[in-house]
Amino acid sequence: MQNLNKGNTGSSPESEPFSAEKYYSTQPEPARLKDTLDGIRKFVAANNEKGRRIVLVTSGGTTVPLELNMVRFLDNFSAGTRGATSAEYFLSHDYAVIFMHRQFSQQPFLRHYSHSTNPFLDLLQIEEPDTNSPSVFPTAPRSEIATPKVSVNTTPEALPLLLRVLRENKRVKELGTLHTVTFVTVDDYLFLLRGIAGVLGEKEGPGRRVMYYLAAAVSDFFLPRQKMAEHKIQSGKGSLHIEMDQVPKILKPLVNEWTPEGYIVSFKLETDPQILIPKARGALDRYGHQVVIGNELHTRKYRVVFVEKNASTNGPRGKSIQANDGASSYREEWVTIQEDAETEIEELIVARLVERHGKWISGRGT
Ligand code: PMT
Repeated sequence: MQNLNKGNTGSSPESEPFSAEKYYSTQPEPARLKDTLDGIRKFVAANNEKGRRIVLVTSGGTTVPLELNMVRFLDNFSAGTRGATSAEYFLSHDYAVIFMHRQFSQQPFLRHYSHSTNPFLDLLQIEEPDTNSPSVFPTAPRSEIATPKVSVNTTPEALPLLLRVLRENKRVKELGTLHTVTFVTVDDYLFLLRGIAGVLGEKEGPGRRVMYYLAAAVSDFFLPRQKMAEHKIQSGKGSLHIEMDQVPKILKPLVNEWTPEGYIVSFKLETDPQILIPKARGALDRYGHQVVIGNELHTRKYRVVFVEKNASTNGPRGKSIQANDGASSYREEWVTIQEDAETEIEELIVARLVERHGKWISGRGT
């Protein structure tokens, strides 16, 4: 058996778990973080000036590299569909959207014509003027190729969606209400989240007009850089033993320190329906934010549950009050659609959140 961890192996009883502070002071920040945050600052300023509400949507799964010169990594489940779909609905409600997503995962508008489900190239039709045209791949000089006619090849049934996507994409581009940033590793994600929260929380910023919609699937365990093998892990030495450290729970500083006024929505994914609601309630107690949206792996496209604290048990930011009767401290709202419905569940999720956020802004929400 080989042990992957370099030097001292992981979180032995005597090694301290990573606090957020320790994490940020010991792990590497992504390249060009400052430039990325400058871009966010400009986007936020432009939309804040117009009085728009702003939402940070996180989407897709984070990875954990196993080597410094990375060949292998652990990944978290998420195609990014929830985040990309929700971002479209927030845009339709005139939110400015910071879409922070895993590189190559689903994106607003593009998701409708992704490479696997509805390939964009199938929409285009090409007509060559000369049926004997040489192949354009790889070498024919351009001057020898007569210009072909390219048209959109769509059926009457497929046209309404195509037009909707094109129109909405154009509208959003003209308004400048969508800004995209990417992450790959959990380090990228955590540094970006802290940096963006810092920008959104700046003085003269949007204050309560900010919502956090944390749909990304974030790794719970990671290999600190200091314990990583430098080079590709070699096979041939028997089984591999990896001991990972726990990623600090970042919702705590987000709620309590980074974004004192933001409206925060987190997600909880479980595969065992029995623990979904207890886990969601536990997260509300621990972090004191506004909503946990629970979903089960296999029904996540048709069924979610909003878990919130009742007003009387929600104390000042980050501090929940214990009610005498445990169960009545919380309220749950299930949102469901038929499996064959044309509606997407994100439309219903976002409509409910927009309403709650409105109350939060006017000081009437919890
Ligand atoms: O993208 P799809 O394929 O459509 O799938 C969507 C989804 C199922 C991934 C999505 O709906 C979802 O449930 N996302 C959260 C899944 C998850 O991994 O939850 P978690 O228990 O790891 O984290 C709970 C919350 O805490 C999340 O909002 C996360 O952003 C946050 N978190 C997690 C870890 C960490 N160290 N700090 C955090 O703040």
